[in-house]
Amino acid sequence: SSIRTINDPVHIAVIGGTGLQSLPHFTHVATLKPSTPWGPPSSPISILHHPSPTTGHAIPIAFLSRHGLHHELAPHEVSSRANIAALRRLGVRTIIAFSAVGSLQEAIKPRDFVVPDQIIDRTKGVRPFTYFEGGMVGHVGFADPFDGALAEVVRRCGHSLEGEGVRLHDTGTVICMEGPQFSTRAESNMYRSFGGSVINMSALPEAKLAREAEIGYQMICMSTDYDCWHDSGDVTVEMVMGNMKANAENARRFVGAVLDELSKEEHAELVLAKHLEGQTRFAGGIT
Ligand code: ADE
Repeated sequence: SSIRTINDPVHIAVIGGTGLQSLPHFTHVATLKPSTPWGPPSSPISILHHPSPTTGHAIPIAFLSRHGLHHELAPHEVSSRANIAALRRLGVRTIIAFSAVGSLQEAIKPRDFVVPDQIIDRTKGVRPFTYFEGGMVGHVGFADPFDGALAEVVRRCGHSLEGEGVRLHDTGTVICMEGPQFSTRAESNMYRSFGGSVINMSALPEAKLAREAEIGYQMICMSTDYDCWHDSGDVTVEMVMGNMKANAENARRFVGAVLDELSKEEHAELVLAKHLEGQTRFAGGIT
């Protein structure tokens, strides 16, 4: 097998959310503490080695914990610009992002997984959400906020685990709210009327910044509760943590299967996200 060093580019990253603060089944080879013009990322970045199922070569994966190593960052405190910039600097072109979500639909039960294809932005504009400012005016398409080709790979992997208790919904709209308070019942019902499938506090601005950085991005959501529209009892932190913990092994299996698949030679083009290059249009400014 080939000899790799920690200086080799890393093309694939996992951003872990609540309840997925590490990926213990991989070989840890380095811990990086990069700095960026936007400050340090949420956590040190772990470089993990993963044997490619086709070639046996070790594939490096970057892992970053969105809320910090000890879950010390609230959703609005996460420095997404630093996180995405730090990963991009390592060579990352594909991100699998994990998130605990509340369910807005009866059919999406607690512990079900969703591979969303749309987002509705209900953040309040208090989080820095773009790289294009301060003299550089750029616009990028965001009609489809996730990478459709990457999503297909993720869905196939999820379905391959259905025999092991992974229940998967192939599409869905994520409502990304500001938080950190959960929704009111009126808001929860409004989000249902919007066509929302699930709700979280973390899809944005992460997905927007990944697009600006020309990184292919797909979120995997795991439902931890019915949001408060449901009459089964209002969402609490204990509910979210409890279901996340109870299903963490399935979450790790799911992410592991996706990394196995993405490590195959046949996905090399997809992983490099060439299809996302050059989409940004500059409207002017000092570049
Ligand atoms: N994350 C997990 N459950 C949630 C909910 N009900 N609302 C917002 N974010 C969540």
